[in-house]
Amino acid sequence: MDAAVAQALDRLAPAFRLSAAALRALADRFGEELARGLAGEPSSLRMLPTFARQPRGDERARVIVVDWGGTNGRVALIELRAQGRFAVDGEESFTFTDAEKVAPAAEVFDAIAAAIEQVVAGDRRTAFPLGLIYSFPARLERIDRAIALPLTKGWRPTGLEGADVVELLTAALRRHRLPNVVVRAVANDTVAPMVLQTYRARAADPDARPAEIGLILGTGTNQAADLPGAGIRNLECGNFDGVVAVETPYDAALDRALADPAPGAQRLEKMVSGHYLGEIVRRIVCDLAARGPAFAWFTAPAFRDPFGFESEHLSLIEADRSPTLEATAALLGQLGVSSSLEERRALRTVARLVAARSARLTAAGLVATLRRIDPALHARHTVAVDGSLYGGYPGYGDMVVAGLVDLAGAAAGRIELEFIKDSTGAGAAVITAVAAGKAETPPHLAPPHPKEGDA
Ligand code: BGC
Repeated sequence: MDAAVAQALDRLAPAFRLSAAALRALADRFGEELARGLAGEPSSLRMLPTFARQPRGDERARVIVVDWGGTNGRVALIELRAQGRFAVDGEESFTFTDAEKVAPAAEVFDAIAAAIEQVVAGDRRTAFPLGLIYSFPARLERIDRAIALPLTKGWRPTGLEGADVVELLTAALRRHRLPNVVVRAVANDTVAPMVLQTYRARAADPDARPAEIGLILGTGTNQAADLPGAGIRNLECGNFDGVVAVETPYDAALDRALADPAPGAQRLEKMVSGHYLGEIVRRIVCDLAARGPAFAWFTAPAFRDPFGFESEHLSLIEADRSPTLEATAALLGQLGVSSSLEERRALRTVARLVAARSARLTAAGLVATLRRIDPALHARHTVAVDGSLYGGYPGYGDMVVAGLVDLAGAAAGRIELEFIKDSTGAGAAVITAVAAGKAETPPHLAPPHPKEGDA
């Protein structure tokens, strides 16, 4: 490796390897923002009420679930069968183009309604309750009324902000002549793994403690938390701005370069989530290329064009265990790049720094939220996690755990991270079943669950 690049990498490392002290300061700041948000004071954490409640574990229902929060969406008919089991009867996926991200919102809801029509196979008689997972910020006024706040992840459909997403979906259902499908619940995606984990645990043991945090680490990132006295809140913590204290010039430049989300918005998400990690690496590579002869291929489209290099690529590089990084060479080859081993090693170093920082920032947010629930972290706690970054990047969970240990010492051993893949469908069904009050056991016969009163 030429000396200039080696030196640049050495300088880069400390800025990305957040020290335990830096993490603790971030967690403290996160905790302060969380308290301010809950008190209704200005805060980068919105702490939005969800009106969702923890399940008992015996709920049964047949629910149409809709999952929309990015490029790929999904509709399914899900049957909750209690005992923690569920069946998927029908399923339709859809993909939105870049143009649809800024098109009239009705187009999105029409695409969803068309998929629902497929899933119910044209059945216009059977009454179907519907649960909508809407993975953007929204201010809920009831479990079935959600006023859209400015969107994230590069979306800005017209006519959505300020409108009730349930009303928009209901109008599309009407256009598709499906009056028998009624939206009963709307929830953020973070609530889904939380309630699904609780549902499974309580199906096995009705007295099981609930999962207290639902965490998404995918295209975007966010937490929901079941907070004493406040119920289940959607933190919208991708917007946490305390991370400015540890930003690198690459983060600052990325933040300034984007119109959606606007500069200053979604600062934690821009350093943590799958939508951005590849882009941060791309920016670093371009900078290294400017310092010496290495990475002369940075003019290839994947490195020249913003967002040309993707977070999935980082996962592939991390998974490459060959001594000469053959899988990385093949990946770069597909991107039109012929690389040297030294360049591949440098790229892997950069990718690891960026991914590890993401995991450590996540740990800081988790510890801060858990301290709000249990200041000394005496008890055991469950964090239910879903998302392609957590599930797809090799060793990501271990890096989060390492951050938890730096922050909480031995207490980190009492924090369980449960990965619940594809939680949105069954999670939405649980949320809807709870909202509809459908349970196998009538409420007066159900065993008491002290936590349930919280929401
Ligand atoms: C959205 C959140 C969502 C998260 C994960 C963020 O960009 O603002 O509402 O929970 O992505 O999908």
